[in-house]
Amino acid sequence: MTERTLVLVKPDGVSRGLVGEVISRIERKGLKLVALELRNVERDLAEQHYAEHAGKGFYEDLLSFITSGPVVAAVVEGPRAAAAFRQLAGGTDPVEKAATGSIRGDFGMEVQYNLVHGSDSPESAEREVKLWFPDL
Ligand code: TYD
Ligand code: MG
Repeated sequence: MTERTLVLVKPDGVSRGLVGEVISRIERKGLKLVALELRNVERDLAEQHYAEHAGKGFYEDLLSFITSGPVVAAVVEGPRAAAAFRQLAGGTDPVEKAATGSIRGDFGMEVQYNLVHGSDSPESAEREVKLWFPDL
């Protein structure tokens, strides 16, 4: 059974020139790109995307950050795609949680600037893919 997940290279990853690095790791892992787009994120999309975090201390900073510059949005497909990309990404905190060898572990220093987003479950992935790519 194949599965789809939503991947974002966040504004820090785009501005630091790490798009190719992230895409390359996705491809080398054996996951398949089925959609890929550079886009600016409207506040409304950001709110829907991060709805689960509404009201938390970091929420407003998170929305400001994700709308601060272009992101690369991708839909990635493969068996257990959501879990597979989360493994590539590493834990949320690039220093305390993400292992060396993961995207966040190799390139990140701060939780807020952790370079990539990946859906946290197949259910989240289905919701997020619909939200970002309604025509897919
Ligand atoms: P979360 O969904 O918990 O992490 P992940 O991206 O690994 O699924 O949080 C969403 C983003 O919010 C996270 O990537 C970075 C930011 N964030 C903070 O800025 N501070 C925090 O304390 C947490 C938990 C997240
Ligand atoms: Mg999350």
